[in-house]
Amino acid sequence: MASIDTLTLPLDPTSTAELAAGGLDYERVDADGEGFRPFQRAVARGFLGGESTDAEAENARSTLRTRRLTGVFDRAGREPEVPVGTIDSWSSALTVSPGRSLDLWSISAVTVAPTHRRRGIATAMLGGELRTAAAAGFAIAGLTVTEATIYGRWGFSPAAWASDVVVDTRRARWTGPVAPGRLDFVAKEGLVDLLAAVHERVRVRRPGSVPGWEGRWRGVAGVAPGDKDAEKVRAVVYRDPEGVERGILVYTLDEKDDYAAHDLSVRALFADGDEAYAALWRFALEHDLVAHVRAWLQAPVPPVQWMVADRRAVTATLTDHHWLRILDVPRALSSRRYGAPLERTIRVSDPLGFADGTWRVRIDDDGDAHVDAVEAGVEAEVRLTVNALSSLLLGGVRATELAAAGLVAGDAAALAEIDRSFAPAMTPLLDIWY
Ligand SMILES: CC(C)(COP(=O)(O)OP(=O)(O)OC[C@H]1O[C@@H](n2cnc3c(N)ncnc32)[C@H](O)[C@@H]1OP(=O)(O)O)[C@@H](O)C(=O)NCCC(=O)NCCS
Repeated sequence: MASIDTLTLPLDPTSTAELAAGGLDYERVDADGEGFRPFQRAVARGFLGGESTDAEAENARSTLRTRRLTGVFDRAGREPEVPVGTIDSWSSALTVSPGRSLDLWSISAVTVAPTHRRRGIATAMLGGELRTAAAAGFAIAGLTVTEATIYGRWGFSPAAWASDVVVDTRRARWTGPVAPGRLDFVAKEGLVDLLAAVHERVRVRRPGSVPGWEGRWRGVAGVAPGDKDAEKVRAVVYRDPEGVERGILVYTLDEKDDYAAHDLSVRALFADGDEAYAALWRFALEHDLVAHVRAWLQAPVPPVQWMVADRRAVTATLTDHHWLRILDVPRALSSRRYGAPLERTIRVSDPLGFADGTWRVRIDDDGDAHVDAVEAGVEAEVRLTVNALSSLLLGGVRATELAAAGLVAGDAAALAEIDRSFAPAMTPLLDIWY
Protein backbone atom coordinates (compact mmCIF):
# COMPACT_ATOMS: atom_id res chain seq x y z
CA MET A 1 0.00 0.00 0.00
CA ALA A 2 2.97 2.33 0.46
CA SER A 3 2.85 2.71 -3.31
CA ILE A 4 -0.63 4.28 -3.18
CA ASP A 5 -0.74 7.49 -5.20
CA THR A 6 -2.17 9.99 -2.73
CA LEU A 7 -2.11 12.67 -5.45
CA THR A 8 -5.06 11.10 -7.21
CA LEU A 9 -7.32 10.82 -4.16
CA PRO A 10 -10.36 13.14 -4.32
CA LEU A 11 -10.80 16.18 -2.10
CA ASP A 12 -12.90 15.56 0.97
CA PRO A 13 -16.48 16.76 0.31
CA THR A 14 -17.19 17.54 3.99
CA SER A 15 -14.28 19.97 4.19
CA THR A 16 -15.22 21.46 0.83
CA ALA A 17 -18.73 22.16 2.13
CA GLU A 18 -17.55 23.48 5.53
CA LEU A 19 -15.17 25.94 3.88
CA ALA A 20 -17.63 26.95 1.16
CA ALA A 21 -20.09 27.93 3.91
CA GLY A 22 -17.49 30.53 4.97
CA GLY A 23 -16.95 31.73 1.39
CA LEU A 24 -13.68 29.81 1.00
CA ASP A 25 -12.48 27.46 -1.74
CA TYR A 26 -10.71 24.19 -0.92
CA GLU A 27 -8.46 23.13 -3.77
CA ARG A 28 -5.52 20.96 -4.66
CA VAL A 29 -2.33 22.73 -5.71
CA ASP A 30 -0.11 21.35 -8.45
CA ALA A 31 3.59 21.58 -7.55
CA ASP A 32 4.34 22.09 -11.24
CA GLY A 33 1.64 24.66 -11.77
CA GLU A 34 1.34 28.41 -11.28
CA GLY A 35 -0.14 27.93 -7.86
CA PHE A 36 3.06 26.51 -6.41
CA ARG A 37 4.95 29.73 -5.64
CA PRO A 38 1.94 31.38 -3.95
CA PHE A 39 1.40 28.15 -1.97
CA GLN A 40 5.01 28.23 -0.90
CA ARG A 41 4.81 31.90 -0.01
CA ALA A 42 1.84 31.15 2.24
CA VAL A 43 3.69 28.29 3.96
CA ALA A 44 6.77 30.47 4.55
CA ARG A 45 4.58 33.23 5.97
CA GLY A 46 2.77 30.75 8.20
CA PHE A 47 6.06 29.56 9.66
CA LEU A 48 7.33 33.14 10.00
CA GLY A 49 10.00 32.66 7.31
CA GLY A 50 11.23 34.90 4.53
CA GLU A 51 10.47 34.82 0.82
CA SER A 52 12.29 32.04 -1.00
CA THR A 53 14.59 32.62 -3.95
CA ASP A 54 13.92 30.94 -7.29
CA ALA A 55 16.63 28.38 -6.51
CA GLU A 56 15.09 27.59 -3.11
CA ALA A 57 11.66 27.27 -4.68
CA GLU A 58 12.95 24.83 -7.30
CA ASN A 59 14.63 22.82 -4.59
CA ALA A 60 11.39 22.65 -2.58
CA ARG A 61 9.40 21.80 -5.69
CA SER A 62 11.46 18.67 -6.26
CA THR A 63 10.28 17.32 -2.89
CA LEU A 64 6.74 18.65 -2.98
CA ARG A 65 6.05 17.27 -6.44
CA THR A 66 5.46 13.90 -4.78
CA ARG A 67 3.19 15.34 -2.12
CA ARG A 68 -0.46 16.16 -1.94
CA LEU A 69 -0.67 19.94 -1.59
CA THR A 70 -4.00 21.43 -0.62
CA GLY A 71 -4.86 25.08 -0.17
CA VAL A 72 -7.79 27.12 1.12
CA PHE A 73 -8.46 30.26 -0.93
CA ASP A 74 -10.30 33.47 -0.17
CA ARG A 75 -11.01 34.76 -3.66
CA ALA A 76 -12.23 38.11 -2.32
CA GLY A 77 -8.76 38.95 -0.99
CA ARG A 78 -6.14 41.25 -2.49
CA GLU A 79 -4.00 38.23 -3.41
CA PRO A 80 -6.61 35.62 -4.37
CA GLU A 81 -3.96 33.26 -5.69
CA VAL A 82 -2.20 33.01 -2.30
CA PRO A 83 -3.91 30.42 -0.11
CA VAL A 84 -5.08 31.44 3.35
CA GLY A 85 -4.66 27.85 4.50
CA THR A 86 -2.09 25.24 3.47
CA ILE A 87 -1.43 21.59 4.19
CA ASP A 88 0.56 18.83 2.54
CA SER A 89 0.59 15.08 3.02
CA TRP A 90 2.16 11.94 1.65
CA SER A 91 2.33 8.22 2.14
CA SER A 92 5.19 7.21 4.39
CA ALA A 93 6.13 4.24 6.59
CA LEU A 94 6.21 4.24 10.37
CA THR A 95 8.51 1.71 12.02
CA VAL A 96 6.35 0.17 14.74
CA SER A 97 8.83 -2.37 16.05
CA PRO A 98 12.21 -3.49 14.71
CA GLY A 99 11.72 -4.70 11.16
CA ARG A 100 7.98 -3.95 11.04
CA SER A 101 6.29 -0.89 9.61
CA LEU A 102 2.84 0.57 9.08
CA ASP A 103 1.76 2.84 6.23
CA LEU A 104 1.63 6.35 7.63
CA TRP A 105 -0.34 9.32 6.35
CA SER A 106 2.24 12.05 7.02
CA ILE A 107 1.05 15.63 7.34
CA SER A 108 3.07 18.83 7.13
CA ALA A 109 2.93 22.51 6.14
CA VAL A 110 -0.18 23.22 8.22
CA THR A 111 -0.61 26.98 8.16
CA VAL A 112 -3.45 29.46 8.32
CA ALA A 113 -2.88 33.10 7.38
CA PRO A 114 -2.84 35.36 10.46
CA THR A 115 -5.62 37.35 8.74
CA HIS A 116 -7.86 34.25 8.75
CA ARG A 117 -7.03 32.56 12.05
CA ARG A 118 -9.57 30.93 14.34
CA ARG A 119 -12.29 30.58 11.76
CA GLY A 120 -12.08 26.81 11.57
CA ILE A 121 -9.77 26.60 8.55
CA ALA A 122 -7.29 24.29 10.27
CA THR A 123 -10.19 22.19 11.53
CA ALA A 124 -11.51 21.74 8.01
CA MET A 125 -8.07 20.93 6.61
CA LEU A 126 -7.16 18.41 9.33
CA GLY A 127 -10.57 16.76 9.14
CA GLY A 128 -10.16 16.52 5.37
CA GLU A 129 -6.79 14.84 5.70
CA LEU A 130 -7.98 12.31 8.27
CA ARG A 131 -11.12 11.39 6.32
CA THR A 132 -9.12 11.06 3.10
CA ALA A 133 -6.46 8.95 4.79
CA ALA A 134 -8.99 6.66 6.43
CA ALA A 135 -10.95 6.24 3.21
CA ALA A 136 -7.74 5.32 1.39
CA GLY A 137 -7.04 2.62 3.98
CA PHE A 138 -4.39 4.25 6.15
CA ALA A 139 -4.49 2.99 9.75
CA ILE A 140 -2.53 5.90 11.17
CA ALA A 141 -1.61 9.53 10.56
CA GLY A 142 1.33 11.44 11.94
CA LEU A 143 3.02 14.81 12.17
CA THR A 144 5.65 16.83 14.02
CA VAL A 145 4.45 19.98 15.71
CA THR A 146 5.39 23.59 16.38
CA GLU A 147 3.24 23.75 19.51
CA ALA A 148 1.90 21.06 21.82
CA THR A 149 -1.49 22.75 22.13
CA ILE A 150 -2.79 22.35 18.59
CA TYR A 151 -3.34 18.74 17.52
CA GLY A 152 -4.81 16.92 20.50
CA ARG A 153 -8.29 18.03 19.45
CA TRP A 154 -7.97 15.92 16.30
CA GLY A 155 -6.82 12.82 18.17
CA PHE A 156 -3.06 13.22 17.76
CA SER A 157 -0.83 12.58 20.72
CA PRO A 158 2.92 12.20 21.28
CA ALA A 159 4.23 8.68 20.72
CA ALA A 160 7.97 9.27 20.41
CA TRP A 161 10.08 11.77 22.30
CA ALA A 162 13.49 13.24 21.56
CA SER A 163 16.18 15.14 23.42
CA ASP A 164 18.23 18.15 22.48
CA VAL A 165 21.67 17.39 23.83
CA VAL A 166 24.54 19.68 24.81
CA VAL A 167 27.82 18.18 26.00
CA ASP A 168 30.51 20.15 27.80
CA THR A 169 33.47 18.36 26.25
CA ARG A 170 35.93 19.62 28.86
CA ARG A 171 34.07 17.78 31.59
CA ALA A 172 33.03 14.77 29.57
CA ARG A 173 36.17 12.57 29.07
CA TRP A 174 35.38 9.48 27.04
CA THR A 175 35.02 6.29 29.09
CA GLY A 176 32.78 4.44 26.63
CA PRO A 177 33.58 1.58 24.30
CA VAL A 178 36.31 1.90 21.71
CA ALA A 179 34.78 0.93 18.39
CA PRO A 180 36.76 -1.48 16.25
CA GLY A 181 36.02 0.15 12.90
CA ARG A 182 37.37 3.33 11.31
CA LEU A 183 36.27 6.89 10.59
CA ASP A 184 36.90 8.76 7.36
CA PHE A 185 35.88 12.16 6.11
CA VAL A 186 33.28 12.17 3.36
CA ALA A 187 33.32 14.68 0.51
CA LYS A 188 30.10 16.57 -0.22
CA GLU A 189 29.66 14.68 -3.46
CA GLY A 190 28.02 11.45 -2.46
CA LEU A 191 27.04 12.67 1.01
CA VAL A 192 23.34 12.81 0.16
CA ASP A 193 23.34 9.17 -0.95
CA LEU A 194 25.37 8.08 2.04
CA LEU A 195 23.02 9.85 4.47
CA ALA A 196 20.06 8.16 2.82
CA ALA A 197 21.69 4.73 2.94
CA VAL A 198 22.79 4.88 6.58
CA HIS A 199 19.51 6.42 7.74
CA GLU A 200 17.60 3.67 5.99
CA ARG A 201 19.55 1.04 7.94
CA VAL A 202 18.69 2.82 11.17
CA ARG A 203 15.06 3.70 10.62
CA VAL A 204 13.85 0.18 9.78
CA ARG A 205 14.91 -0.92 13.27
CA ARG A 206 13.90 2.06 15.36
CA PRO A 207 10.21 2.34 16.38
CA GLY A 208 8.89 5.83 15.71
CA SER A 209 11.10 6.42 12.68
CA VAL A 210 10.11 7.25 9.14
CA PRO A 211 12.17 7.29 5.94
CA GLY A 212 13.87 10.50 4.93
CA TRP A 213 13.77 11.90 1.41
CA GLU A 214 16.32 13.40 -0.91
CA GLY A 215 15.39 17.02 -0.17
CA ARG A 216 15.83 16.39 3.54
CA TRP A 217 19.30 14.91 2.99
CA ARG A 218 20.29 17.75 0.65
CA GLY A 219 19.47 20.14 3.48
CA VAL A 220 21.50 18.17 6.03
CA ALA A 221 24.43 17.82 3.63
CA GLY A 222 24.59 21.56 3.00
CA VAL A 223 23.93 21.28 -0.72
CA ALA A 224 20.47 22.89 -0.72
CA PRO A 225 20.24 26.53 -1.88
CA GLY A 226 19.94 29.18 0.83
CA ASP A 227 21.96 27.33 3.48
CA LYS A 228 24.04 30.01 5.18
CA ASP A 229 26.31 27.41 6.79
CA ALA A 230 26.74 25.30 3.65
CA GLU A 231 30.46 25.85 3.41
CA LYS A 232 30.99 24.76 7.00
CA VAL A 233 29.42 21.32 6.63
CA ARG A 234 31.74 18.39 7.30
CA ALA A 235 30.99 14.70 7.55
CA VAL A 236 32.62 11.49 8.72
CA VAL A 237 31.49 7.95 8.07
CA TYR A 238 32.02 4.94 10.34
CA ARG A 239 32.94 1.67 8.69
CA ASP A 240 32.90 -1.55 10.68
CA PRO A 241 35.79 -4.04 10.41
CA GLU A 242 33.97 -5.74 7.51
CA GLY A 243 33.90 -2.45 5.64
CA VAL A 244 30.15 -1.84 6.04
CA GLU A 245 29.25 1.87 6.37
CA ARG A 246 27.16 1.87 9.54
CA GLY A 247 27.30 5.39 10.85
CA ILE A 248 27.46 8.97 9.69
CA LEU A 249 28.06 12.27 11.46
CA VAL A 250 27.39 15.55 9.67
CA TYR A 251 28.38 18.67 11.58
CA THR A 252 29.48 22.28 11.50
CA LEU A 253 31.98 24.13 13.69
CA ASP A 254 31.31 27.63 14.98
CA GLU A 255 33.97 29.87 16.39
CA LYS A 256 33.27 31.39 19.80
CA ASP A 257 35.09 34.23 21.59
CA ASP A 258 37.71 31.71 22.66
CA TYR A 259 39.21 29.97 19.60
CA ALA A 260 39.86 26.87 21.69
CA ALA A 261 36.15 26.63 22.56
CA HIS A 262 34.29 26.12 19.28
CA ASP A 263 30.76 24.73 19.16
CA LEU A 264 30.31 21.52 17.20
CA SER A 265 26.72 21.39 15.96
CA VAL A 266 25.49 18.00 14.85
CA ARG A 267 23.30 18.08 11.75
CA ALA A 268 22.90 14.32 11.71
CA LEU A 269 24.28 11.46 13.72
CA PHE A 270 22.87 8.20 12.45
CA ALA A 271 24.30 5.01 13.87
CA ASP A 272 23.37 1.49 12.89
CA GLY A 273 24.50 -0.27 16.03
CA ASP A 274 26.34 0.49 19.25
CA GLU A 275 29.82 0.56 17.76
CA ALA A 276 28.94 3.22 15.20
CA TYR A 277 27.19 5.26 17.90
CA ALA A 278 30.22 5.16 20.21
CA ALA A 279 32.67 5.91 17.41
CA LEU A 280 30.78 8.99 16.20
CA TRP A 281 30.09 10.44 19.63
CA ARG A 282 33.69 9.90 20.68
CA PHE A 283 34.87 11.68 17.54
CA ALA A 284 32.61 14.65 18.34
CA LEU A 285 33.51 14.86 22.02
CA GLU A 286 37.25 14.54 21.46
CA HIS A 287 37.39 17.01 18.57
CA ASP A 288 40.19 19.49 19.21
CA LEU A 289 39.28 23.13 19.84
CA VAL A 290 35.67 22.23 20.69
CA ALA A 291 34.09 23.05 24.05
CA HIS A 292 30.47 22.12 23.37
CA VAL A 293 28.80 19.54 21.18
CA ARG A 294 25.17 20.26 20.36
CA ALA A 295 22.88 17.63 18.89
CA TRP A 296 19.15 17.58 18.27
CA LEU A 297 16.60 14.77 18.09
CA GLN A 298 18.65 12.32 20.11
CA ALA A 299 17.24 9.42 22.15
CA PRO A 300 15.20 10.67 25.14
CA VAL A 301 17.87 9.41 27.55
CA PRO A 302 20.92 9.63 25.30
CA PRO A 303 23.26 6.64 25.68
CA VAL A 304 26.27 8.97 25.43
CA GLN A 305 25.73 9.97 29.05
CA TRP A 306 26.84 6.45 30.03
CA MET A 307 30.01 6.84 27.97
CA VAL A 308 31.65 9.80 29.69
CA ALA A 309 33.39 10.25 33.04
CA ASP A 310 31.04 13.02 34.18
CA ARG A 311 27.47 12.32 33.14
CA ARG A 312 26.46 15.86 34.11
CA ALA A 313 28.60 17.07 31.25
CA VAL A 314 25.63 15.88 29.16
CA THR A 315 22.49 17.99 29.31
CA ALA A 316 19.46 16.48 27.61
CA THR A 317 16.27 18.51 27.18
CA LEU A 318 13.32 16.28 26.45
CA THR A 319 10.50 17.20 24.10
CA ASP A 320 7.56 15.43 22.50
CA HIS A 321 8.37 14.90 18.85
CA HIS A 322 6.40 12.35 16.83
CA TRP A 323 2.64 12.76 17.17
CA LEU A 324 0.47 9.91 15.95
CA ARG A 325 -3.25 9.46 15.37
CA ILE A 326 -4.71 5.99 15.03
CA LEU A 327 -7.45 5.72 12.42
CA ASP A 328 -7.95 1.94 12.41
CA VAL A 329 -7.51 0.22 15.77
CA PRO A 330 -7.20 -3.44 14.64
CA ARG A 331 -4.69 -2.66 11.89
CA ALA A 332 -2.62 -0.25 13.95
CA LEU A 333 -2.39 -2.52 17.00
CA SER A 334 -1.69 -5.66 14.99
CA SER A 335 1.13 -4.02 13.01
CA ARG A 336 3.76 -4.26 15.75
CA ARG A 337 5.33 -7.04 17.75
CA TYR A 338 4.76 -7.11 21.51
CA GLY A 339 6.84 -8.20 24.48
CA ALA A 340 4.37 -10.38 26.38
CA PRO A 341 0.97 -12.05 25.89
CA LEU A 342 -2.22 -10.18 26.73
CA GLU A 343 -5.96 -10.65 26.54
CA ARG A 344 -8.06 -7.64 27.45
CA THR A 345 -11.04 -5.66 26.25
CA ILE A 346 -10.48 -1.96 25.68
CA ARG A 347 -12.95 0.84 25.05
CA VAL A 348 -11.55 3.54 22.80
CA SER A 349 -13.37 6.85 22.55
CA ASP A 350 -12.84 8.95 19.46
CA PRO A 351 -15.09 11.99 18.93
CA LEU A 352 -14.22 11.93 15.22
CA GLY A 353 -15.37 8.33 15.00
CA PHE A 354 -12.46 6.60 13.25
CA ALA A 355 -11.16 4.56 16.18
CA ASP A 356 -14.26 4.61 18.34
CA GLY A 357 -15.38 1.24 19.66
CA THR A 358 -14.78 -1.62 22.02
CA TRP A 359 -12.02 -4.00 21.03
CA ARG A 360 -10.84 -7.39 22.22
CA VAL A 361 -7.05 -7.36 22.07
CA ARG A 362 -5.27 -10.71 22.22
CA ILE A 363 -1.50 -10.90 22.00
CA ASP A 364 -0.20 -14.41 21.42
CA ASP A 365 3.00 -16.04 22.64
CA ASP A 366 4.82 -14.89 19.50
CA GLY A 367 4.03 -11.26 20.31
CA ASP A 368 1.48 -10.85 17.51
CA ALA A 369 -1.75 -8.99 18.23
CA HIS A 370 -5.22 -10.07 17.08
CA VAL A 371 -7.87 -7.38 17.48
CA ASP A 372 -11.61 -7.79 17.03
CA ALA A 373 -14.51 -5.41 17.45
CA VAL A 374 -16.74 -6.29 20.39
CA GLU A 375 -20.50 -5.73 20.41
CA ALA A 376 -21.74 -2.60 22.12
CA GLY A 377 -22.65 -3.16 25.75
CA VAL A 378 -19.75 -5.46 26.59
CA GLU A 379 -17.91 -4.20 29.65
CA ALA A 380 -14.35 -3.05 28.88
CA GLU A 381 -11.48 -3.62 31.30
CA VAL A 382 -9.59 -0.55 30.10
CA ARG A 383 -11.00 2.75 28.84
CA LEU A 384 -9.01 5.37 27.00
CA THR A 385 -9.15 8.02 24.30
CA VAL A 386 -7.75 7.57 20.83
CA ASN A 387 -5.08 10.06 21.87
CA ALA A 388 -3.93 7.83 24.73
CA LEU A 389 -3.99 4.72 22.54
CA SER A 390 -1.93 6.53 19.90
CA SER A 391 0.63 7.45 22.58
CA LEU A 392 0.77 3.86 23.81
CA LEU A 393 1.15 2.23 20.40
CA LEU A 394 4.95 2.24 20.19
CA GLY A 395 5.47 1.70 23.91
CA GLY A 396 7.11 5.07 24.45
CA VAL A 397 4.95 5.70 27.50
CA ARG A 398 3.43 3.21 29.95
CA ALA A 399 -0.31 2.73 30.42
CA THR A 400 0.18 3.09 34.18
CA GLU A 401 1.77 6.50 33.64
CA LEU A 402 -1.16 7.67 31.54
CA ALA A 403 -3.51 6.21 34.15
CA ALA A 404 -1.78 8.27 36.84
CA ALA A 405 -2.61 11.34 34.76
CA GLY A 406 -6.22 10.21 34.40
CA LEU A 407 -5.84 9.55 30.66
CA VAL A 408 -6.39 5.79 30.87
CA ALA A 409 -8.82 4.04 33.24
CA GLY A 410 -8.88 0.40 34.18
CA ASP A 411 -8.07 -2.18 36.78
CA ALA A 412 -4.48 -2.30 37.99
CA ALA A 413 -3.80 -5.84 36.76
CA ALA A 414 -4.94 -4.99 33.23
CA LEU A 415 -2.80 -1.86 33.12
CA ALA A 416 0.26 -3.71 34.40
CA GLU A 417 -0.30 -6.35 31.73
CA ILE A 418 -0.47 -3.68 29.03
CA ASP A 419 2.77 -2.19 30.34
CA ARG A 420 4.51 -5.55 29.98
CA SER A 421 3.12 -6.29 26.53
CA PHE A 422 3.65 -2.85 25.03
CA ALA A 423 7.21 -2.40 26.38
CA PRO A 424 9.21 -1.62 23.23
CA ALA A 425 12.18 -3.59 21.94
CA MET A 426 13.88 -0.21 21.44
CA THR A 427 12.91 3.19 22.79
CA PRO A 428 10.89 4.94 20.07
CA LEU A 429 12.63 7.84 18.37
CA LEU A 430 12.03 10.01 15.34
CA ASP A 431 15.36 11.49 14.25
CA ILE A 432 14.13 14.02 11.65
CA TRP A 433 11.50 16.74 11.40
CA TYR A 434 8.78 16.46 8.79
C1 LIG B 1 -2.09 26.43 14.18
C2 LIG B 1 -2.96 27.06 13.10
C3 LIG B 1 -2.77 26.26 11.82
C4 LIG B 1 -4.42 26.99 13.55
O1 LIG B 1 -5.26 27.44 12.49
P1 LIG B 1 -6.75 28.03 12.71
O2 LIG B 1 -7.42 27.99 11.40
O3 LIG B 1 -6.65 29.31 13.43
O4 LIG B 1 -7.41 26.94 13.67
P2 LIG B 1 -9.00 26.70 13.86
O5 LIG B 1 -9.72 28.00 13.64
O6 LIG B 1 -9.44 25.56 13.04
O7 LIG B 1 -8.99 26.34 15.39
C5 LIG B 1 -9.47 25.12 15.88
C6 LIG B 1 -9.32 25.11 17.37
O8 LIG B 1 -7.95 25.02 17.69
C7 LIG B 1 -7.59 26.08 18.57
N1 LIG B 1 -6.24 26.46 18.22
C8 LIG B 1 -5.79 26.77 17.00
N2 LIG B 1 -4.50 27.07 17.04
C9 LIG B 1 -4.12 26.94 18.33
C10 LIG B 1 -2.89 27.11 19.01
N3 LIG B 1 -1.79 27.50 18.36
N4 LIG B 1 -2.85 26.86 20.34
C11 LIG B 1 -3.94 26.48 20.97
N5 LIG B 1 -5.15 26.29 20.39
C12 LIG B 1 -5.22 26.53 19.08
C13 LIG B 1 -8.61 27.15 18.32
O9 LIG B 1 -8.71 28.01 19.41
C14 LIG B 1 -9.85 26.35 18.09
O10 LIG B 1 -10.34 25.90 19.31
P3 LIG B 1 -11.90 25.60 19.52
O11 LIG B 1 -12.25 24.54 18.52
O12 LIG B 1 -11.96 25.14 20.93
O13 LIG B 1 -12.57 26.89 19.24
C15 LIG B 1 -2.55 28.53 12.87
O14 LIG B 1 -2.61 29.20 14.08
C16 LIG B 1 -1.17 28.73 12.27
O15 LIG B 1 -1.02 28.78 11.06
N6 LIG B 1 -0.12 28.86 13.11
C17 LIG B 1 1.26 29.10 12.63
C18 LIG B 1 1.86 27.88 11.92
C19 LIG B 1 1.84 26.65 12.78
O16 LIG B 1 2.23 26.67 13.93
N7 LIG B 1 1.38 25.55 12.20
C20 LIG B 1 1.37 24.26 12.85
C21 LIG B 1 2.44 23.46 12.24
S1 LIG B 1 2.76 21.97 13.09
